[in-house]
Amino acid sequence: MNAAPGAQLAESGGTTGLGRVMEPGVIDVSHGPILYLEDVTVQFDGFRALNRLTLSIDHGELRCVIGPNGAGKTTMMDVITGKTGPRNANVSGRVFLGQTIDLMRLTEPKIAQTGIGRKFQKPTVFEQHEVWENLELAMKADKRWFSSLRARLGPQGHRRIEETLALTGLEDEAYRPAGLLSHGQKQRLEIGMLLMQQPQLLLLDEPVAGMTDEETMQLATLLNSLRGTCSMMVVEHDMEFVAALAGATGTVTVLAEGSVLAEGTLDAVKREERVIESYLGR
Ligand SMILES: Nc1ncnc2c1ncn2[C@@H]1O[C@H](COP(=O)(O)OP(=O)(O)O)[C@@H](O)[C@H]1O
Ligand SMILES: [Mg+2]
Repeated sequence: MNAAPGAQLAESGGTTGLGRVMEPGVIDVSHGPILYLEDVTVQFDGFRALNRLTLSIDHGELRCVIGPNGAGKTTMMDVITGKTGPRNANVSGRVFLGQTIDLMRLTEPKIAQTGIGRKFQKPTVFEQHEVWENLELAMKADKRWFSSLRARLGPQGHRRIEETLALTGLEDEAYRPAGLLSHGQKQRLEIGMLLMQQPQLLLLDEPVAGMTDEETMQLATLLNSLRGTCSMMVVEHDMEFVAALAGATGTVTVLAEGSVLAEGTLDAVKREERVIESYLGR
């Protein structure tokens, strides 16, 4: 069973169809998928940014999503995280986290508590604060570690920060202000900050934009090392990066005009005629 510890949702709770008792906030991945979108349509003034999008991500999977500009990739992440939802937009369809958590019924802050972490395109770190402090602050935002903001970081917390510094390759930068980091280091720090909250599902929207080739491959290494820690959905245009994440067997989803155009291994989707026409070009 995969828990999002500390998540407190009014919904969920009770008995599942399988007869197992689910604790509130626990993500039920017993059927495989951690994320499931079915027939999701988002309309802006009649224009369909998502058009009956159906997609599912398995628990533990690292899914790459590619597709032309305007395909609806960011809108899809907005729907998953509740930034765009029935409260503020014309949205229909179903979005589930695991079997039981209906994300369409939750607000954006509640969805964050379910264990979905999102990395936006631009890094958002506290530039004046040291790298270590950034990680500590991210941890403090998490009520599982601190009951109040004045609480002290225990040895366990210290260990977690050190592990995250090692994972993100930022050990040598721990006591530098985040504002002095390179773009690639800032991006890794922000992922580290998300990791402090122990996400079950991490969403990354064009994380390598503006990175050097070396930084891009460092990020691929970092994300590959997170397999088994959390499930991930990565939207990206950089094909070498996608290849480094998807490998020969990983599933890649091609989005176009708000729905899935193709899905399969990177090699297979790259060979599909409609993908070549709408995205890759000739
Ligand atoms: N808030 C909004 N209002 C109106 N149109 C929007 C809004 N958000 C996105 N769109 C439109 O929806 C389409 C999909 O956008 P987006 O999800 O950002 O695509 P992608 O991330 O794949 O490039 C685009 O045509 C965009 O202009
Ligand atoms: Mg986008």
